[in-house]
This record gives sequence, C-alpha cells and structure tokens, in this order.
Amino acid sequence: MAASVASHLPLALSLLHTVATQYPGLTKSQPTTNPSAPSVPTATFTIALPGSKSNGANNGASSNGNQTSGQATSAAPAAGTPLSTPPANLNGSPLCQYCHTKPKYVDGVKTHLYCSKSCAASAKTNGNQATSNSQHSGSSTTGNCDFCHSRPKFPGHPFCSKACAKNASSSTHSGGNPKGTCQAPGCTKPTHVNKDGTYGDYCSLSHKTLGETLCLLCLQNPKQTNSHFCSKACADNAEKQGPMILEVPAGHVTFRSVSDQFKASWRHPGTKCPPVKRVYKIVSTQASLAAFNAYKATVEAKGQFVAAGRSAGNENRRWHGTKRECHFGDKGQTQFCGSPTCSLCCIVKTSFDLSLFGKKTGWGRFGKGIYTSSTSSKSNDYSTNDCRCSLKAILLNKVIVGKGCKVTQDNTTLTAPPPGYDSVLAEKGGNLNYDELVVYTNDAIRPSFLVMYEA
Ligand SMILES: *[C@@H]1O[C@H](CO)[C@@H](O)[C@H](O)[C@H]1NC(C)=O
Ligand SMILES: *[C@@H]1O[C@H](CO)[C@@H](O)[C@H](O)[C@H]1NC(C)=O
Ligand SMILES: *[C@@H]1O[C@H](CO)[C@@H](O)[C@H](O)[C@H]1NC(C)=O
Ligand SMILES: [Zn+2]
Ligand SMILES: [Zn+2]
Ligand SMILES: [Zn+2]
Ligand SMILES: [Zn+2]
Repeated sequence: MAASVASHLPLALSLLHTVATQYPGLTKSQPTTNPSAPSVPTATFTIALPGSKSNGANNGASSNGNQTSGQATSAAPAAGTPLSTPPANLNGSPLCQYCHTKPKYVDGVKTHLYCSKSCAASAKTNGNQATSNSQHSGSSTTGNCDFCHSRPKFPGHPFCSKACAKNASSSTHSGGNPKGTCQAPGCTKPTHVNKDGTYGDYCSLSHKTLGETLCLLCLQNPKQTNSHFCSKACADNAEKQGPMILEVPAGHVTFRSVSDQFKASWRHPGTKCPPVKRVYKIVSTQASLAAFNAYKATVEAKGQFVAAGRSAGNENRRWHGTKRECHFGDKGQTQFCGSPTCSLCCIVKTSFDLSLFGKKTGWGRFGKGIYTSSTSSKSNDYSTNDCRCSLKAILLNKVIVGKGCKVTQDNTTLTAPPPGYDSVLAEKGGNLNYDELVVYTNDAIRPSFLVMYEA
C-alpha cells in the first residue's frame, strides 16, 4: 500500500492534494485543553515580571551560558541535514522504502534501503524501483507538471515549462518552505505542488505523516503520543539541557495545535488575527517541571478533576503577553539575552516569579498573582517589543486552575485564592471586557510554548 503510493507519484500527488484540501476540517483543535474550564474568555494583565536571579530552583543550569549551545534548538528539518543520525541517512527518508513505517536497517556501516530482508524481498518481487539512484529523481519527473498539473513534465524536470518553473519558484509558501523541498528529515525530494501553485510540505504521504509528528529534539523519529519526544532518551536529554527552546517545524501537529488555539481565541472585534510565524516548545529544567508536577498532584488529590473528566489539576493552556527586549524567538535566535529586565527571556528561563511581582507595574486588579488569559488578542495587548523586531512574542502556558473562584469585582488585596479555591476566575462583566485567570503560587504555572506572530 505505502509502497505503491511511493512508486506512483502522480497518484500520490493527487492523494496528497485531497488530504491537504481536507486538512483544516480534520484537525480542529480545542481552544483550551479542558472543555469544562470556563468557556468564557479570560483576560490578562500582563504584569511585567523582571528577571529572577532569585529563583534558585530553576536557575542552576542557566548561568554557564552554555546550556543550549550545539543543540538543535532552531533547526527546522532542513533538507539533507539530519541532525543526529548517521550520514548514510542523507540518502532520503529514514523509513524503509517498502513499508514506509519502520526505520531503515543500519548495520553499523551503512544504511540499507529497507528495514528488513522481507521488505527488501517484497520490494524486489513487486518490481519496486526504489533504488538509491532513482529515489531522488526518478519518480518526480513523470506525470504532469508539478505547477499547472495540466501539461506533461518536460523530460527530467518537475515542470512542463520555464514559465511554470518560474511561477512555482516565485510562489511563496505559508509554512516557510519556499524552495519546495520535502520537510521530512534527510529528504531532498521536491514537495507536492498544489493546484494554486503553492508548495506543500512533503514529497509523499508517508513523509507527511512523519514530518507532522517528529520528535522535537532529534527531529528524526516520530514522537510518542503523549510526549514531544520519540523516546525516554530524547525526553531526558531535552530536560537535561533545559531551560531552552526547541523550534516546532511548521507542518507539525504541535505547531497546528498551538496556532489553532491562537486563532480560535483571537476575539477582539474589528481586528484580524495575525499569522503565526514560528512556534517554539519551551523546555524547563527538571527541577522546575518536578515542582510544577508536584503542585499539580496536590491540587488533583484535593479536587479529583480526572474523575470528573478533566485534566489532572484542571490544567489549562492560557496566554500571557509580556515585554521583550531582545531578538529572542526571531529566526535562529534561541539564546536568552541575559538582561534582567527582558521579561520574555526571564520567564522562559526561570518561569514566573511572584517575588518580583509589581516591581514595574504595581498590583493587579485581583491582587498579587500571575495573570493569564484564554484570549490571545487580550494578551496581545501586553506583548511589547523593546527592540526593533518585526514579530511579536506571546507565551502559551500550562496553568493549574484547580477549583477556580469566580469573582466579578476587583480585589487588589488578594495574595492567595479565597479559602477552598486554587485560583481566581475573573468573570467578564463589570469593568472587564475579557475574563482573567489568576494563580497565586509560582508552581501553578509554567511557560509551555513561545509563539511568534506578525505585529
Ligand atoms: C560549553 O561548551 C563548550 C563547547 O561549546 C564545551 O567545551 C564546554 O565543556 C561547555 N561547558 C559547560 C560548562 O558545559
Ligand atoms: C504565472 O504567473 C503569472 C502571474 O502570477 C500569471 O499571469 C501566469 O498566467 C502564470 N503562468 C502560468 C503558466 O501559470
Ligand atoms: C478581598 O479579599 C479579601 C481576602 O480574601 C477579603 O477579606 C475581602 O473581603 C475582599 N474584598 C472584597 C471587596 O471583596
Ligand atoms: Zn506546467
Ligand atoms: Zn520526502
Ligand atoms: Zn527523538
Ligand atoms: Zn531577552
């Protein structure tokens, strides 16, 4: 099945097109991780939380300035540049050319085309012409023009004519893949070209599936279902290198989930949701994650949210906009700037810190807490650039809502949630246009994604 897709490219291309067209409808993601959470938008006061040298637990690894060096922090899966697998993998997909599901067999010297002897034998008997010589050029030069889809290809070229080749190369691509090279690791094949002349992200369905689910650390193997990583080794390795950010490839399911939430929660009337340009996974230190998980466990033990069909601790994804002084998050910029007043770098590095609360902007309307929003357009108001940067930055955070106390009136004296509650949910109404979620302890929140969008 998979093999026939690979060896009959025109069919694969039309299949891909069908899939691509149906895509948006297939992958609607929820605005929040929890349907039972307040469905009303919440808002944020973005209290600037300046740098935190004082946040001991999270600070350990961040002072040697070395923690992200050499990491694949910003590397999208560039064609032909596998990041940590044997060079033999330059030969194309890391997956077996026959079954397209298992990795190619590596015997320590070279990477074979197939995962096993049985796949190799099947490939031969089925007349599959996938050899190392034909896999890059053979299949893509038959059938109709990759641009117009109506005229046969000029022999040896993906397009029928110079006009189509020119149009194809000038078409810009929404996912940042202007050259039209397959985004799967190590693959240098041209991508499927859509009817409107825009490029797809992958050369084939199997590479599409692989590319959309890549492990965010090694960018080689498919991630596990409930993890950003392919293996315990990659997960541990990433945590050990935290704090850091890992760029999420544009075609990835995680990119889509985050950017869909951004779009779905852009609610300010009369404004247009700006396009998301980049998404980074924020990797915290092991100590920081352990403290967050311990807090989550105590809230869960008290509130039994899982039994009620919610997430553990009633965890939700909420936005926070803040000040950026540097180019962190811009193309290729994954190193913290080190300025103690660059709130973005400080929060990504050591998470939110209440001990610094109010230093810049004073108390919030609901007291001494950390403010987030389910409304991206609300948090956008608090995202500021203290730099000449063309993109804006916003954080998507994991927040332990627990049992939220609904309040309608400001109460600037709060320093903790009212007794029996874990957070404050400021309801829309009164003098609030958008709701807010406030937590009063550092370990109730961790930044999870950094989202860069057009200003
Ligand atoms: C920092 O990185 C360099 C290479 O980039 C390495 O030689 C050195 O051991 C590292 N230092 C620490 C403290 O990790
Ligand atoms: C190429 O693009 C131009 C301008 O976008 C358009 O007018 C022309 O028809 C296109 N040519 C083909 C062959 O599609
Ligand atoms: C504000 O919160 C404090 C502490 O929970 C409470 O004692 C006080 O009554 C609240 N004030 C108003 C106006 O709700
Ligand atoms: Zn053409
Ligand atoms: Zn490919
Ligand atoms: Zn991995
Ligand atoms: Zn910075």
